Amino acid sequence: MRRPLIERYRHRLPVSEKTPVITLLEGSTPLVPLKGPPEARARDVQLFAKYEGLNPTASFKDRGMTLAVSKALEEGAQAVAAASTGNTSASAAAYAARAGIKAVVVLPAGYVALGKLAQTLVHGARIVQVEGNFDAALAIVRELTERYPVALVNSINPYRIEGQKTIAFEVVEDLGGAPDFHALPVGNAGNITAHWKGYRELAEAGAIGRPPRMLGFQAEGAAPIVKGAPVEKPETVATAIRIGNPASWEGAIRARDESGGAIEAVTDEEILSAWRYLASEEGLFVEPASAASLAGVRRWLAAGRIPEGSRVVLTLTGHGLKDPGTAEREVRLPPPVPADVEAVAAAAGLL
Ligand code: F0G
Repeated sequence: MRRPLIERYRHRLPVSEKTPVITLLEGSTPLVPLKGPPEARARDVQLFAKYEGLNPTASFKDRGMTLAVSKALEEGAQAVAAASTGNTSASAAAYAARAGIKAVVVLPAGYVALGKLAQTLVHGARIVQVEGNFDAALAIVRELTERYPVALVNSINPYRIEGQKTIAFEVVEDLGGAPDFHALPVGNAGNITAHWKGYRELAEAGAIGRPPRMLGFQAEGAAPIVKGAPVEKPETVATAIRIGNPASWEGAIRARDESGGAIEAVTDEEILSAWRYLASEEGLFVEPASAASLAGVRRWLAAGRIPEGSRVVLTLTGHGLKDPGTAEREVRLPPPVPADVEAVAAAAGLL
């Protein structure tokens, strides 16, 4: 049976018997072995997808949110707040509902995918849309939580990172050791920081040998870490990572440098191509941001940068149903035909 993430990893998390455990049975997501694109098969590289879309609110955010909301409640908070490109808000809204406290979410108007908006609304969060991007929203929420009685649950809250580090524990349990590479999309950079913290803790405890090289991928139009400077007007089809000034910038640099990894940019075309491949060849429907991990790894494979026989884990951060708008735009729906067998057979290409 799926157990609360906090119970499963209690010994590695900052909780005590006094901490009320607010859980939706997050984590314990499958590590799916992929068939792999030809360039991986050719080099005997085995890809595994950590399918985080199977969390309760359909993204990895639930790992951090169970801890952040539990600790906020322990500390007496009556409300939590977050800026979000959509997944953090959906998760905060769900966990706050579960805890019986209020959630306030500040969103960049016009740039949150429909599924995430629907979740956040139905869970009953107070939504405030601002005329600005995620970076502006986060600056406002930081100040809001300093001036008003509301707990910040963005990933600058260290409990979010603590919860999210558990992904490394699960990967190592499932593989029976560390992979050679671990690739993931990078937006606000909390998740790569958390992944690396998890692997580092395992290495320090002697539970693994060499931790994986971390490969972080930003979208080309929103790649401040790659460029080495904030991006004022970030743009990408992957709205989840449409971020110009990541809060955990330093954590990402540390993950990159300490692991001997890299943070690079992939184009929207590469993201959408990997997104299509995952759905149509591997049966895994993810949101565009998640596919940045595979897009980047495909580049590395094509350039011969991944040694033969390597094991590579991709974090697929969010479910495809989060963003029906992209699916509708990218994949054409055929027009209706008359309701008879011949017409349907013809349209289905069966004749
Ligand atoms: N993938 C998805 C689906 C995300 O929602 C996010 C971030 C990331 C990747 C990047 O993770 O920010 O830790 O580097 N979403 C945040 C949000 C910003 O508000 O939901 P990160």
